[in-house]
Amino acid sequence: MKALCWNGTQRIELTHVPDPGILNPGDVVIRVVLSSVCGSDLHLYNGYVPTMRHGDIIGHEFAGEVVETGPQVKQLKKGDRVVVCSVIACGECHHCTHDEYSLCDNSNPNGHIQEKLYGYPTAAFYGYSHLFGGYAGSHAEYIRVPYADQGCFKIPDGVSWEQAVFVSDAVPTGFMAADMSVKPGDVVAVWGCGGVGQMAIRSAWLKGASRVIAIDKYDYRLAAAKERAGAEIINYEETDVFEELKEMTGGRGPDVCIDAVGMEARSANRFEDVYDKVKQELKLQTDRPSVLREAIRACRKGGVLSVVGVYAAMVDKFPMGLLMNKSITLKTGQQQGQKYIPRLLEFIRDGQMDPSYLLTHRWSLEGGEKGIKCSIIRPINACAWSLRPEPAP
Ligand SMILES: NC(=O)c1ccc[n+]([C@@H]2O[C@H](COP(=O)([O-])OP(=O)(O)OC[C@H]3O[C@@H](n4cnc5c(N)ncnc54)[C@H](O)[C@@H]3O)[C@@H](O)[C@H]2O)c1
Ligand SMILES: [Zn+2]
Ligand SMILES: [Zn+2]
Repeated sequence: MKALCWNGTQRIELTHVPDPGILNPGDVVIRVVLSSVCGSDLHLYNGYVPTMRHGDIIGHEFAGEVVETGPQVKQLKKGDRVVVCSVIACGECHHCTHDEYSLCDNSNPNGHIQEKLYGYPTAAFYGYSHLFGGYAGSHAEYIRVPYADQGCFKIPDGVSWEQAVFVSDAVPTGFMAADMSVKPGDVVAVWGCGGVGQMAIRSAWLKGASRVIAIDKYDYRLAAAKERAGAEIINYEETDVFEELKEMTGGRGPDVCIDAVGMEARSANRFEDVYDKVKQELKLQTDRPSVLREAIRACRKGGVLSVVGVYAAMVDKFPMGLLMNKSITLKTGQQQGQKYIPRLLEFIRDGQMDPSYLLTHRWSLEGGEKGIKCSIIRPINACAWSLRPEPAP
């Protein structure tokens, strides 16, 4: 089959690779219908996630059709339309049975590498480095899905492929960001208006926020945040974000600050921007924490900082004293999709959410390399391509 493989920093190539098959009795094989470029793919593309190897198939946000099932698969059959959670979880360990699927003890066969850095292993993800399991990703014609009864969710009638694909990752991540932080009546500020930020805004409304303020620098993303998700907007290159948030909240600050940016954050402060970039390039820090710094400063006293933007390991100049003295609660995590996806598919079926506007550009698998480059220069909102274009049901 054909797949998009990582062959070094900023080098993705269409490659012929062996077809996947059933390895364990709980596996299924999926024919990929849609696979989208998540912001996390860009961290891999830009070379910021360690333990990538030449020939690794990337991609983890996808939906498709079941073509083969292992003998122990109970809930799925050939022909089922499914969306697959980007997090791989066994469903049986202590963490999985406590709704903490992204902390699964069993799904990451390279957990021993992670233990050296993180102390304990976390769950694996599709196409997301050997540190996170070394599983083949979804920017391919077919993909093997382990623990399939746990990770595959049947797409209800009336929910299109274009809606379902984002339920793999951006929708549950944005929803979790709000679910772990927002209370009815809260004023919520969201940094980053990519797919995750857009879904965090929508989810903040669903959790009862009274106001949602979105921050980015790309006008088309801010326009989508305003027109599609109903947020007030701040362009961080044109306005001092801290002063503006203080002004907008009567001097108090937002109750909840959501980081939907992560390790490749930019800063309008040129010194900070260059400082973080140089330190990251020299491997003196793995991540650029300018959004964390700004959000901690802007957050109201006693507020909540909810971090779903991805960080790899170490950051410099983290304002621990501000976090502590302002009594800010820090909530974090890779998404717990298996907990949220059934509910989110119902929200979409019932018209309470529609993530399909995140799909602005489509490519064939052959054009996928161009698609990833296009996501980097960001002329678009969130990019996905149809690997095998098919009409929506
Ligand atoms: N926790 C999870 O399970 C999970 C799942 C999916 C994605 N993610 C992560 O969430 C983050 C967002 O994902 P995405 O797909 O929306 O990514 P994206 O790259 O499409 O969007 C990130 C946005 O952040 C903006 N940004 C950069 N610096 C900023 C600043 N100083 N202030 C405000 N905005 C700024 C960029 O302009 C961009 O629009 C990424 O780090 C991604 O890896 C986490
Ligand atoms: Zn992702
Ligand atoms: Zn588990």
